[in-house]
Amino acid sequence: MIQILENERTFHLQTTASSLILHVMESGHPVCLYWGGKVDGDSFSYIVKEIKKASYLSGTDGNQAFRLEQYPLLYPAYGNPDMRTPAFLFRYEDGSRITDLRFQGYEVFHGSRKLDGYPTCMDKEAEGIVVKLSDRAGQAEVWLTYTVFQDYDAVTQSAKVFNPAKTSMVVEKLMSGCISFLDDRYDCLTLTGAWGRERHVNREAIRQGLFVLDSKRGASGHGSNPFVALVEPGADEDNGNVYAMNLVYSGSFEADIEVDMHQNTRMMMGINSFDFAWKLDGGACFQSPELVLVHSSEGLGGMSRSFHRFYRECLMPKRFAHSCRPVLINNWEATYFSFDRKTILALADEAVRLGVELFVLDDGWFGHRDREDSSLGDWTAYEAKLGGTLESLAEEIHARGLQFGLWFEPEMVSPDSHLYRSHPDWIIRVPGHEPQSGRNQYVLDLGRKEVQDYIIDSLDRVLGSAGITYVKWDMNRNITDIGSAVLPADRQKEVLHRYMLGLYRILEEITGRYPDVLFEGCAGGGGRFDPGMLCYFSQIWTSDDTDAMERLEIQRGTSMAYPGIAMGCHVSACPNHQMGRVTSLHTRGVVAMGGNLGYELNLLELGETEKQEIREQIAFYKHIRDTVQNGILYRLKSDGQEYAWMYLAEDGSQAVVSHVRVLARGNTVPKRLKLAGLSRDSWYEVTVAGEKVGNSDKSRILSGSSLCSIGLPLSVPEGDFFAEQWIVEKLHK
Ligand code: DGJ
Repeated sequence: MIQILENERTFHLQTTASSLILHVMESGHPVCLYWGGKVDGDSFSYIVKEIKKASYLSGTDGNQAFRLEQYPLLYPAYGNPDMRTPAFLFRYEDGSRITDLRFQGYEVFHGSRKLDGYPTCMDKEAEGIVVKLSDRAGQAEVWLTYTVFQDYDAVTQSAKVFNPAKTSMVVEKLMSGCISFLDDRYDCLTLTGAWGRERHVNREAIRQGLFVLDSKRGASGHGSNPFVALVEPGADEDNGNVYAMNLVYSGSFEADIEVDMHQNTRMMMGINSFDFAWKLDGGACFQSPELVLVHSSEGLGGMSRSFHRFYRECLMPKRFAHSCRPVLINNWEATYFSFDRKTILALADEAVRLGVELFVLDDGWFGHRDREDSSLGDWTAYEAKLGGTLESLAEEIHARGLQFGLWFEPEMVSPDSHLYRSHPDWIIRVPGHEPQSGRNQYVLDLGRKEVQDYIIDSLDRVLGSAGITYVKWDMNRNITDIGSAVLPADRQKEVLHRYMLGLYRILEEITGRYPDVLFEGCAGGGGRFDPGMLCYFSQIWTSDDTDAMERLEIQRGTSMAYPGIAMGCHVSACPNHQMGRVTSLHTRGVVAMGGNLGYELNLLELGETEKQEIREQIAFYKHIRDTVQNGILYRLKSDGQEYAWMYLAEDGSQAVVSHVRVLARGNTVPKRLKLAGLSRDSWYEVTVAGEKVGNSDKSRILSGSSLCSIGLPLSVPEGDFFAEQWIVEKLHK
C-alpha cells in the first residue's frame, strides 16, 4: 500500500510488515525518512526537521541552517554541499558534471512495470510510485520507481534518466537505488568467496569511510554476490533488524556503503560505475536494472524467507517456480570429455535402475570437442563420438524412461571453431592487442544483434530437434579486453552493459520459445548466481565444488537470498575431485538434499552396496522433494563446526531436518537440536531418515512445542563429517 501524506510531500510505502517512508523537503530534495518495521502515523517529516545541526558544513541554497550533508538523501548528487558518495554522475557536452535534481512530481501506478530489456519482478497485485526529479538547469530528468510487493515484504527500486536536450550527455553512474540511515550501528553482511567457495557469509561492523563491494568481471562473479545486508549488531537468525539489497543484474555491479562523519549510513547498489559510461543522445533515456529491498525484523531467517517466497512467486519462470525438479545424473565428473555412446547408455541404464529421472550430457558432445580447446560456437553434434545423431541418442535415452538434457556454453567461441574462423571480429577485444584467452576461449560480443541472432538460431536448431527437456547454460570465463568492433570510440565504455542487455534478449527469446525446458544456469559453478539469472534459469549450479563439507557453507550463504529450489546440488565421487576429501555417501546425500538432488559420479564404478544406498537416497528424496523444493527454510545452526537446517512444507504437514557435524571432538556430549516453525499445538511423528515412517519402534510422537523448545537429541558422531537427518510428519487428529 502507498499512503500519500503531508501535502503530497511524504510517501509511505507499506508491505505487510515493513515501512519505507520517502519525503520531499522544502528545497525539493527527496529524502529517505525511514525504512524498517511497520510504523503508523500521518506525518513523519519531523524526522528531518529535528536533525541537530553540526559544525563546519556548508549551507545550501543560501540558507546557512540547511546543511544538505546531514540529510538522508534519497538520490544524492555530486558537486553540491552533500559531499558524500553520489548515486549518479552525468557529464554534459560542455564538460560540466553538476546536476541539481529537485522534485517535480509523482505518479502512482497499479501492478508492476516490466523494465525494458531487463529481468523484472512482476506481480499484478503490486503498487508503485514514480518520484520525478529534474535538474534545475534543465539538463536531465530522473525518475525513481518504487514498486511495493505488499504480501511479500519486498520493495523494488530502479532509476531512469532522460536527456531533454538536443545534444548528448554521458551517464557515468546511475545506481538502481539508494537508502540512507540516520545512524551507523550496523554490521555489513556480504556473500563473498572465489571459484569453489562461492557465497561464504561475511559479517563485519561498518565504520566511518566507504566500503565498496563490486565485480569488474562482466558477470556478478564467484567472488562477490550482488547482495548486501546491514544487520543490527545483536541480530541473529531469528531476531533483530536486517536491511538487505539484492540487484537483479548479472554483470559487473557495485555496492557502496558509506558511513559519514556524523554517523549516518548510505547504502546503494547498481551497475558498476568503474569503466562504465553510456552516451545518451538528446531525447533518449537510460534505464537502470532493478534493486530488491527486503527488511526483516525476524533476523536473517526472516529475511531469507521473504527473498525465497518473493523470487519464487514474482521472479522465477512461472512454469517451474513450483514444479518439482527431476533427480538427475550428469556425466561430467563421471567421464569428463572421454565418452562414447556405449558409456553414456551404460550410465543411463544404471541411473534408471537407481531411480534417476533425467540424464544430462555435459560438455563434449558437439563440433570435434575432446578437450577444452575447441568447438565452442559450433553447436552441431559430434556424431563420430556420439555414435550417430544426437536425435538417435536422445531417443535411446528416452526409451529407458529418462528425460534428456544437454550442456551449452553459448556466450563463448573457441579459436579452433568454424564460427571463429568465419567471424573473428565477433569477439570482445581491442584492435592491436592480442586478446587474452581464458580456458582457451574468447567471449562473443553479445552487444551485437547478429551475434545474438546466431546464438538464438543455433540453440533453436538443437532444442527443436532432439526432445530436450533440460539445458545447462554454462559460462566459463570472465571478460577481458573490453572493446567492440562495432562501437565508436565514445561508446566503448558501454560494451559490458550492452553484453548483459544482449544476453537478456537471448535468454528472453530462447526461454520464451521453449517454456517447458528447464534451464539451469552455470558459470564455472556458481559464478553468476543472481536474481537476473533466476528470472530465466529456474535453477543454478551452485558451485563446481561438490565436497559435502565445502558445500555446507556455500549452500548456507546461497540460501541467504536464494531458495532451495534454485540450487543444484550433486552427490559426487570420493575422494572428492575438487578437495580430495573423503566423506560418506550418507553425508554427501544429506548435504545434496539441501537443494535439487543430482548425481555426478561414475555409477559404473560403484559396488552393489553403494548402489543400493543411492537407490534408497533417491526414494527418500522423492518422498521429501516437495518439502525441500517448495518448503520454507529454517537455518537452525551454522557455526563452522555444526550446520543444521530444516525445510517445512508450506502446509506444515512435513518437515525435513538435517544436521552435520564437521569434525568429531573428544569426549563431548552432543546436545539437542531445537526445531522451528512447527505448530506448537500439533503433534508430529519424528523418524530418523532411512527408517520406515510409521514404524512405531523407530518413530517417536512429539508435540510441536517440545520439538521447538526442547529439541531432538543429537547422536554421538561416528567420526568426522557426520550427518543425521529426520523426517517430521504432522499427525492429523
Ligand atoms: C564448468 C561447469 O561448472 C562444470 O559443471 C562443467 O559443466 C564444465 N564447465 C564443463 O566444461
